[in-house]
Amino acid sequence: MPASSGLSGEIRVPGDKSISHRAVMFGAIAHGTTTVRNFLPGDDCLSTVSCFQKLGVTIETAGTDVKISGNGLEGLREYSGLLDVGNSGTTIRLMMGLLSGTPFVTRLTGDESIAKRPMNRVTAPLKEMGATIDGRENGKFIPITITGGRLKGISYSLPVASAQVKSAILLAGLQAEGETSITETAPTRDHTEKMIRLFGGKIKTSSNTVVIEGGQKLYGTGVNVPGDISSAAFFLAAGSLVPGSEIILKNVGLNWTRTGILEVLEKMGADFSVMRSSGDTYEPSGDIVVKHSRLKGITIGGDLIPRLIDELPIIALLATQAEGETIIRDASELRVKETDRIETVAGELRKLGAEIETTPDGMIITGGTKLGNGTVTSHGDHRIGMMLAVAGLICKSGIELHDTEAIAVSYPDFFIHLDSLKK
Ligand code: S3P
Repeated sequence: MPASSGLSGEIRVPGDKSISHRAVMFGAIAHGTTTVRNFLPGDDCLSTVSCFQKLGVTIETAGTDVKISGNGLEGLREYSGLLDVGNSGTTIRLMMGLLSGTPFVTRLTGDESIAKRPMNRVTAPLKEMGATIDGRENGKFIPITITGGRLKGISYSLPVASAQVKSAILLAGLQAEGETSITETAPTRDHTEKMIRLFGGKIKTSSNTVVIEGGQKLYGTGVNVPGDISSAAFFLAAGSLVPGSEIILKNVGLNWTRTGILEVLEKMGADFSVMRSSGDTYEPSGDIVVKHSRLKGITIGGDLIPRLIDELPIIALLATQAEGETIIRDASELRVKETDRIETVAGELRKLGAEIETTPDGMIITGGTKLGNGTVTSHGDHRIGMMLAVAGLICKSGIELHDTEAIAVSYPDFFIHLDSLKK
């Protein structure tokens, strides 16, 4: 529905998806109890919980509180069935690394979207470490079968900027003989590195290389998950786009590897301010206030892309309303997300009247287009669904949005929060 008189109020966005996954995984392989606060109980993170429960780990969930009773890597047990990761790329890719070193057989599967996503980017370095992995098309696609065994450390240069691949190798590296060193082409989210330290592990990071020593023991701890900046992004956009808006977003994660969206908003001329929380937390966070403003088109590319990769759909919507053209380049990774996000973003927004040209690695978006009403779909992609719901706020008579269930993957209360801001 269109929001005629602006959005106002305060929102506490749910816990960070990437950090919630990792808190459960590291809790499951650590020794002792881990308590997680502000966990994201979205479908993706619940898939991670369910996979580790099947591997014999006791995990109790109560809303956003999770308690994990870890017995170390040795505490994991073979599961006779198929482990189903649902829609979650982070679950499957990180678990592939982790289970490459555990002495049993695991079979991993997922939904229709996961079936199309490439796993060879993880399989290839893991095989170099000595892992035995198979899947359709020589380990490229699910179902994936892993026969865990002894691993050896490697030096690996990531061909694509991917935190999931980096994290999978780190989880294998933790169990490998000797040192594992990973070099990135551009910095990607470093939640795994931070989490290893939080659980008492040692990891060295210098410029674009991270080095981990195998054979380390991790210990259970408390993890306080900050709000997800990737979820906050939809409200940062809604506040910027809907005239008369002022939205306060509480406790948003501000890890530098994730704040590319704030740099883009600033360059586009958005009106927002950030109040960083004081205190020495392992992941920085703070509150953000955003108000409606006029925006201008910009060019986005290079090393900034991995720091805002999940925000590009909502940035594309912002660009349709900015003055002048916006160019997004170096973002071919969008083509292998939950959907081909270059085509789904352009295709759905065009149905509402946007002018978007797609390129192999991005989009060229004409600003200042009036969006009209129409019928659109998320294509089962949570971030496309939320982007389109925000688009509906600025369409004269609203839109018909299909396939909204997908939004529960990362933001189950999205519509409740959105409605609470309408005057
Ligand atoms: C994630 C990494 C990113 C991101 C995904 C979550 C993670 O994927 O798009 O939503 O938690 O490590 P890539 O590593 O494939 O870029």
